[in-house]
Amino acid sequence: MAPHTTLGPRAAITGVHAWVPPHVVTNQDLTRYIDTTDEWIYTRSGIRERRWLNDDTLATSDMAVEAVRGLLIKKNLQPTDIDLLICCTATPDMLFPATANIITDKVGAVNAVGYDLSAACSGFLYGLSTATAFIESGRFRRIVVVGADKMTSILNLEDRATAFLFGDGAGAVLVEPNTEGLGVMDFLLKSDGSGRNYLYQKGGGSLNPASHRSVDAREHYVHQEGKTVFKFAVTGMADVAAEIMERNGLTAEDIAWLVPHQANKRIIDATRDRAGLPESKVMVNIDRYGNTTNATIPLCLWEWEKQLHPGDNLILAAFGGGFTWGSIWLKWAYETTN
Ligand code: UT7
Repeated sequence: MAPHTTLGPRAAITGVHAWVPPHVVTNQDLTRYIDTTDEWIYTRSGIRERRWLNDDTLATSDMAVEAVRGLLIKKNLQPTDIDLLICCTATPDMLFPATANIITDKVGAVNAVGYDLSAACSGFLYGLSTATAFIESGRFRRIVVVGADKMTSILNLEDRATAFLFGDGAGAVLVEPNTEGLGVMDFLLKSDGSGRNYLYQKGGGSLNPASHRSVDAREHYVHQEGKTVFKFAVTGMADVAAEIMERNGLTAEDIAWLVPHQANKRIIDATRDRAGLPESKVMVNIDRYGNTTNATIPLCLWEWEKQLHPGDNLILAAFGGGFTWGSIWLKWAYETTN
């Protein structure tokens, strides 16, 4: 994939908002379900606690709606102002219609086109790249990219290899044209389908529709071969962040923030080391939220928003099921106090 160029306006993030459920589940709480310790989980993953939606009547769209409504209020926009809403998720409310359609209906975004994007933990990066192409082509002017997952809906609380990793949450960004040279400067997306055998949810699709057998075989839960995924993720995420910096002539001094997908603190540290960045330039909140899949990167941007300034160089990087991975270099476009 060649470095990205555009002659027209760039696509800039002009607002961010997020929502996490109030219910906190600590590592200690998890010892009720699995044979584990706070020390093991923290040392292996960097996670201390995560949020669970804990309400069978609520779904991914409900968390996304909170994030989108908050974003519209912050930006003083009406729901009818949105042209396109892309929902990046691995846990849609249902297989169809798209969760994006459910969100646009719930918020009243009647003028918006909506669709879902499935790229597991790299979904938000893929979504922001897609939004960038639509903004640069002039096709849409106000795009909301949502990353949202109710991971507890596919979490096997008897599987100690995955039960501690994931949490629920949603984040949304507004993407608009920018004529001052700020916004997405380059994106680099990769995928390798041979990785599909190591991180997946087997049941519920056309290959293994829901049946007594699929439920008995626990095929509706997330399954991960952790060691193998770790091996690919730790090099994949570091490589792709380094590659986007190198091909754009960026050095560690040029970078204000690394915004990594939050899957494992050890993977984040490897990416930071490879980019030559100090810990003070890396957004890390895995300790409080775990891996919220599509929501990790917008959750970081939301928490660090007040520390971001126009022109700041941000490197976003992710690795996830598929395998999918990628990186985005963007120049932050606004100052906020609220
Ligand atoms: O976001 C999408 C991409 N996903 C990722 O990037 C995640 C990648 N994988 C990982 O982050 C890591 O593989 C984990 C954090 C999931 C696991 O860490 P690990 O260092 O790979 O541990 P392991 O699975 O190799 O297990 C090591 C040992 C095993 O015991 P033995 O065989 O050495 O005796 C496990 O049985 O730890 C044991 N173990 C546990 N012990 C306490 C596994 N899970 C637990 C647990 N508590 N929850």
